[in-house]
Formats: sequence, structure tokens, C-alpha cells
Amino acid sequence: MGFFTFILLSLVALSPSFTSGEMEPKIGICYGQLGNNLPTQSKSVHLIKKLGAKRVKIYDANTKILKALKGTDIQVSVMVPNEIISNISTNQTLADEWVKTNVVPFYPKTLIRYLLVGNEILSNPPNTTWFNLVPAMRKIRWSVKKFGLKKIKVGTPLAMDALESSFPPSNGTFRSDVSEEVILPLLRFLNRTKSFFFVDVYTYFAWINQPAQINLQYALLEPTNITYTDPVSGLTYTNLLDQMLDSVIFAMEKLGYPNIRLFIAETGWPNGGDVDQIGANIYNAATFNRNVVKKFMAKPPIGTPARPGVVIPTLIFALYNENQKPGPGTERHFGLLYPNGSYVYPIDLSGKTLKSEYPPLPKPTNNEPYKGEIWCVVAKGANRTALAGALSYACSQGNGTCDPIQPGGKCYKPNNLVTHASYAFSSYWSQFRKNGGTCYFNGLAVQTAHNPSHGSCKFPSVTL
Ligand SMILES: *[C@@H]1O[C@H](CO)[C@@H](O)[C@H](O)[C@H]1NC(C)=O
Ligand SMILES: *[C@@H]1O[C@H](CO)[C@@H](O)[C@H](O)[C@H]1NC(C)=O
Ligand SMILES: *[C@@H]1O[C@H](CO)[C@@H](O)[C@H](O)[C@H]1NC(C)=O
Ligand SMILES: *[C@@H]1O[C@H](CO)[C@@H](O)[C@H](O)[C@H]1NC(C)=O
Ligand SMILES: *[C@@H]1O[C@H](CO)[C@@H](O)[C@H](O)[C@H]1NC(C)=O
Ligand SMILES: *[C@@H]1O[C@H](CO)[C@@H](O)[C@H](O)[C@H]1NC(C)=O
Ligand SMILES: *[C@@H]1O[C@H](CO)[C@@H](O)[C@H](O)[C@H]1NC(C)=O
Ligand SMILES: *[C@@H]1O[C@H](CO)[C@@H](O)[C@H](O)[C@H]1NC(C)=O
Ligand SMILES: *[C@@H]1O[C@H](CO)[C@@H](O)[C@H](O)[C@H]1NC(C)=O
Repeated sequence: MGFFTFILLSLVALSPSFTSGEMEPKIGICYGQLGNNLPTQSKSVHLIKKLGAKRVKIYDANTKILKALKGTDIQVSVMVPNEIISNISTNQTLADEWVKTNVVPFYPKTLIRYLLVGNEILSNPPNTTWFNLVPAMRKIRWSVKKFGLKKIKVGTPLAMDALESSFPPSNGTFRSDVSEEVILPLLRFLNRTKSFFFVDVYTYFAWINQPAQINLQYALLEPTNITYTDPVSGLTYTNLLDQMLDSVIFAMEKLGYPNIRLFIAETGWPNGGDVDQIGANIYNAATFNRNVVKKFMAKPPIGTPARPGVVIPTLIFALYNENQKPGPGTERHFGLLYPNGSYVYPIDLSGKTLKSEYPPLPKPTNNEPYKGEIWCVVAKGANRTALAGALSYACSQGNGTCDPIQPGGKCYKPNNLVTHASYAFSSYWSQFRKNGGTCYFNGLAVQTAHNPSHGSCKFPSVTL
């Protein structure tokens, strides 16, 4: 080892980014509130502490949460709602008002560290908000400076669909419809303000699209003997998450910004889902999230093949299973906790618990696609008033969808709302699933592999 190497090492050791508190490895949690059965904000903060989380992201600027976080050592990311981005982008007064109302009263006692402008804006259908995003970030940043909120950085979380190509990682490229007009100014802003590129990155979504091509253990960050060597960069990968993160780094590099730091604004794995969904179970969720904690809390930091040894701040999605999230069943099953506050599986975000110290997990039962018939029936505890509305909606969509539950029909008896609605949901879903129809009905419906047919009444089914 020569003299120069020694100088270089000393410089690295002294460089502020490695010694400032911000770059300590810390895992956090995304605290979403889309449930009608969740604990209070102060109870939730207590649970966040118990999980060992040192960061939290909220999806608005909820006053009760920010108050409850006061005096804790938890670093907070607060979100500026999508709806006001366009107005803020042209109105400094409005930006100032927002920061003054939502941030100033809580800073510095609540450790607000990041203002995230919008949520996955580029995943929404194209509209002017795309192009107003960076102008709004500049306005918010100016307000932050004006109010002297020195420790706050401004960013915006984007999903992996901001990229049009992520494989091989060296081929990472931002989408051509946003590259010049949105991403380039964004990277310039992040570079100038020494902020982070916030990315929502789920190996789960990559895996479910290609379960036959991608090894599940590779997506779960389990140790395997699988490696992938990028033919262009020559870098070797041992898990899917590193591949995805590096594709973002290469995409930034292509636009001339190779040094902007990454911040994982969301990652996670669902602990449950619908019968027709694959790989969503407690075993996989626990395995993935524990591996994420292990990887990103490691000392010295591991980084990724493109950026070895670099700390990547990471937030796991989500604190709770949220029963009011729309979409497939997995969307309502990303929580580390049930709505009653108990753990879905043991997990310690502080990184102090070794993987071997956790008790055994229930074996996964749905790592292979389900084969057989499925029905769509009324969910437990469904609101009866809403159910009547959903029943008439389902019956009005197709031709003859609900004929058998009319008087004299084979499924008329028993003549009650729940049985009739279950028939209507099954009938609707079997007809429209191929066109994107879902078994959800605002949470009133769930899939089942148990045949609800009775006597001569046959419920229509979906066959997988
Ligand atoms: C544009 O998208 C944003 C979210 O990105 C949304 O809040 C807004 O309502 C949309 N505007 C229009 C006109 O569709
Ligand atoms: C944006 O500003 C316009 C014009 O002042 C106003 O009508 C509209 O309600 C504002 N939108 C939001 C989401 O605040
Ligand atoms: C900017 O926002 C402020 C505060 O909401 C409002 O009073 C003002 O009318 C807005 N200006 C314009 C040009 O919309
Ligand atoms: C690289 O990305 C481009 C799109 O940006 C895509 O067309 C091409 O197929 C990718 N190359 C490989 C080897 O996948
Ligand atoms: C490597 O993977 C192959 C194929 O899955 C397996 O047969 C073999 O036992 C593995 N070797 C080690 C050392 O894990
Ligand atoms: C900003 O860009 C300059 C020029 O490319 C580079 O030297 C610097 O490292 C970048 N800083 C960050 C924080 O990305
Ligand atoms: C909390 O909810 C889960 C899931 O519904 C249930 O299995 C568990 O028993 C509940 N725990 C308590 C303490 O009520
Ligand atoms: C039940 O649904 C109806 C209609 O959607 C709604 O007005 C009512 O508030 C709901 N009741 C409960 C207890 O959620
Ligand atoms: C219902 O039947 C009519 C006439 O056969 C047809 O034009 C229409 O597309 C059908 N609608 C649906 C939703 O299947």
C-alpha cells in the first residue's frame, strides 16, 4: 500500500459525509394511514419506537403524528400532497404558507429532515403536474431556506417505472417522455442541493411479472449461489435489489449525474394477498424485510456493486396492513403490524437481532401460482348499505349477470343480501376478470377457493 492510498483513505475517513449523523445507517418505516381500524397516532409512534425504527415517512403533514414524534430520535420525512404541486410551482407565497403551517411549528423538536414533494408523480397518467414537479421543489426549497430550516432536504420519491429500461443494470435509462424535461432538471436540483434520489423499489413487483425467469430467493435477498454478471459493466450481482438500485445509478450517470446519493423511500414484500396472487405470504415478507435490515444496517456499509461501501438510507413499507388501500389484496398486506398493533412476524429494525435469533416462520404455501377455481364473495363485516349498492352495480354491468338471483331463479333462495351479493360478485368477476375487472368492490369482496355453490345453484367461477 503506497503513500497515496494512505492519503486517500484518511481523506475518506475525514470527509463530512461519512461522519455526519445523517449518513449513519438507519432503517425506517412508512407510516400510511389508509385504514379505518388503526391505532391512534401517539400509540403508533410508540409502536414505531418499539420496532427499532430510526426514520419514519408520512404521506402528508399530519399534525397529530408530527406532535407525537416530538422529542423522539426518529428522523421524519413529510410529504407535500400531489394535488397542490401545480399551484405551488407558480406561487412562492403558497409554498411559504405550506411550509410555515406544516413544518415550522414542529421544527426542530420533531426531527423533520426531508420534505418529499408529491408521491410517485411520474407513475400517474401524464398531466402538467409532471412538468410542475421540479419548479414546485425549487419553491419549497426556497421556503425552507427562508425559514432557516437548515437540516431539511427536499426530494421527490419516484417508482421504478421512471425507467424505461433497468436490465442489465448498465442499461438503466430514464423514460424518454420525462428524461429531458423532468429528470434532467430534477437531477440538477438534487445535485445542487446535495439531496437524494428517492426511489420506491420493490423486487416483489419485478418478480411477480417474471416468476419463472427470476429466482424467488434472489428476489428475497437470500444467500444463494446465483450470480449475474452485467456484460457491459462487468459488475457481479447476488440479489435483485442491487440490480434494480444500480440501474437507477446508471440511468443518472447517462444524464451526467453519477454521484447523486440514493435513498430507498419504499421497499417491502406483502405478507398476504388474493388467492390468484403469488408469493405473498408471511414467510417471504419476513425473509425479505429482515434481509433488508441486515443489508442496510451492516457496518461497515455494503452498498451495491456500482457503489460499494456506501450507506443507503432505507424505509420499509409499511407500518400497518391498511384495509382501505385499493387494488389487489397484496396492497392491503404490506404491514409489519396488524391494525391491532401486534406483529405479523417478529422483526427488529434496529438490526440488533440476528436472523438466527428469530423463531421459525410458517412455511409459504403460495410460492407457486394457484391452480383451480376461485370465487368472489362478500367480505366479513361488509357494510350492508354499501353492499346493496355494490350488488346493483355488479348486476348492471353485464348481460344476465344476475338472472339466477331473480325470483324463481336457481340462486334466488336463500333470499338475503349477502348470498345474493356473493353470487353477483362471482358472476361479475368471472365475466370481467379478463378485461381487468377486480374482486374488490371497495373492500366489500374477497376471493375464495371454497365453492359457495349450494344445491342446484352454481356460482360462476374463475379457473386458473
Ligand atoms: C394530475 O395528476 C395529479 C397527481 O399527479 C393529480 O393530483 C391531478 O388531479 C391531475 N390533474 C388532472 C387535471 O388530471
Ligand atoms: C389552485 O389554484 C386555483 C386558482 O387560485 C384554485 O382555484 C384551486 O382550487 C387551487 N387548487 C388547489 C388544489 O388548491
Ligand atoms: C398565491 O397563493 C396565495 C396564498 O394561498 C394566494 O393568496 C394568492 O392569490 C396566490 N397567487 C396567485 C397568483 O394565484
Ligand atoms: C436496453 O434498453 C433499451 C431501452 O432503453 C432497450 O430497448 C434494450 O432492449 C435494452 N437492452 C437490453 C440488452 O435489454
Ligand atoms: C447451487 O445451485 C444448484 C442449483 O440450484 C444446486 O444444485 C447446488 O446445490 C447449489 N450449490 C451450493 C453450494 O449451494
Ligand atoms: C454534482 O455534480 C458535480 C459535477 O458532475 C459532481 O462533481 C458532484 O459530485 C455532484 N454532487 C452530487 C452531490 O451529486
Ligand atoms: C391482532 O390481529 C391479528 C390478525 O387479525 C390476530 O391474529 C391477532 O390474534 C390479534 N392480536 C390481538 C392481541 O388481538
Ligand atoms: C356504510 O355505507 C354507507 C354507504 O356507502 C355509508 O353512508 C355509511 O357511512 C357506511 N357505514 C359505516 C358504519 O361505515
Ligand atoms: C350485451 O349484449 C349486447 C347485445 O348482444 C351486446 O351488444 C353487448 O356488448 C353486451 N354487453 C356486455 C357487457 O357483454
